Amino acid sequence: MSALFSLVDRIALVTGGCGGIGRGLARGLAEAGADIVIADIDLTGADELCAEIETMGRRCLAVKTDITQIEDVERLVSTTTATLGGLHVLVNNAGTNIRKRLDEVTPDDWDRVLDLNLKGYFFLTRHAGQTMAENGGGKVINMASLMATSVFRNPHGQTYAPYSASKGGVISLTRALAVEWAAKNIQVNSICPTFIETPLTQRLKDDPVVFDAIIGRTPMGRFGRVDDLVGPCVFLASRASDLVTGTTLYVDGGWSVS
Ligand SMILES: NC(=O)c1ccc[n+]([C@@H]2O[C@H](COP(=O)([O-])OP(=O)(O)OC[C@H]3O[C@@H](n4cnc5c(N)ncnc54)[C@H](O)[C@@H]3O)[C@@H](O)[C@H]2O)c1
Repeated sequence: MSALFSLVDRIALVTGGCGGIGRGLARGLAEAGADIVIADIDLTGADELCAEIETMGRRCLAVKTDITQIEDVERLVSTTTATLGGLHVLVNNAGTNIRKRLDEVTPDDWDRVLDLNLKGYFFLTRHAGQTMAENGGGKVINMASLMATSVFRNPHGQTYAPYSASKGGVISLTRALAVEWAAKNIQVNSICPTFIETPLTQRLKDDPVVFDAIIGRTPMGRFGRVDDLVGPCVFLASRASDLVTGTTLYVDGGWSVS
């Protein structure tokens, strides 16, 4: 059974690898046996995390990358293959949200969210997919969100509309690439987490009105923890999910079905 989920001899790249979720996923993938690439705009954080992962006996490469920049994305993939010898798993995880009232959202806000959460995913995946296809296949895991398919009306009147649009796009992109690359043995899937305890959601957790609204909508009655995402990610990165493609895996304490 352990061989089914083993990532020994796999090379896994995590974008936004220094953030709350990315850090946990990188550690989890390394625990399952993978060598790791941390791609983030925060090189200091990426270097520190790499040092920690190397103490686990894995190789780890930190690459300063702005995934909204095409040149950075191309350099990331070529540096990965030149340094570690391949690329088998891509976790598109870097993302952002802007919480404002609907009438306050500016064109720049829209571009910032969509550029990072959707455009960056597309160009990095297309580039990484070429490398995977040349080497017999691979796995792409896209971090979407519960907000892709559920609407949460923030009690303060703030909107998640640009974020929801970007994450809905991630699910559609996942489905399109899954079909496009099925014959190349590249499986592409999304994970939709509920609210997870990270720096991105700390302000929501600290606000009793918002916190109660979220907990009230969640059958299991709690925020998610980063550890809740590790098992689903390792499953989608491993041989255990070889016939699973184009799906959306909800990790949401039952919110999406309640
Ligand atoms: N935290 C949640 O509750 C939650 C819920 C659902 C989905 N998600 C999604 O999970 C992913 C990770 O969220 P998180 O909570 O860990 O966020 P986070 O803010 O803690 O981390 C984001 C990371 O992305 C990096 N980053 C920002 N811009 C970048 C860029 N242009 N290029 C490369 N890296 C960049 C940041 O430096 C940071 O390390 C996001 O896609 C988010 O939308 C989060």
